[in-house]
Amino acid sequence: MYSDKVMDHFQHPRNVGEIEDASGVGTVGNAKCGDIMRIYLDIDDDTHVIKDCKFKTFGCGAAVATSSMATEMVKGKTIEEAMQVTNKAVMEALDGLPPVKVHCSLLAEEAIHAALWDYAEKHGIQIEGLEKPKSDISEHDEDEEY
Ligand code: FES
Repeated sequence: MYSDKVMDHFQHPRNVGEIEDASGVGTVGNAKCGDIMRIYLDIDDDTHVIKDCKFKTFGCGAAVATSSMATEMVKGKTIEEAMQVTNKAVMEALDGLPPVKVHCSLLAEEAIHAALWDYAEKHGIQIEGLEKPKSDISEHDEDEEY
């Protein structure tokens, strides 16, 4: 059912953890399955290159595998290039996911976008193509509904 790459990233996830004083943090959740994902980005303010990226996922195996792959894919990229790391691109890099698991890969894309949004807000910049995350449940926004 799962490709070797999905199994590999699920069993040996890359970039698990958190970044202290991260440039941007994004937390998103899927209301249906209840899974939560948080992405931390360390971004160079001059070059806008993502120097480091870590994640924490409270979720299913496909969510773990897609976040692991997504962090690998955005690391070393500029913000603009990271915007191209869509859930489709992540799924392709993992040699596909079963249809019922496609939403899990969306969580990774949304979490990266939420972290980029956080960075953009803090620095007063605009990132082309980036929209305000719908489901950012970051603990900094306590008045936001879960
Ligand atoms: Fe919820 Fe996979 S089942 S993210």
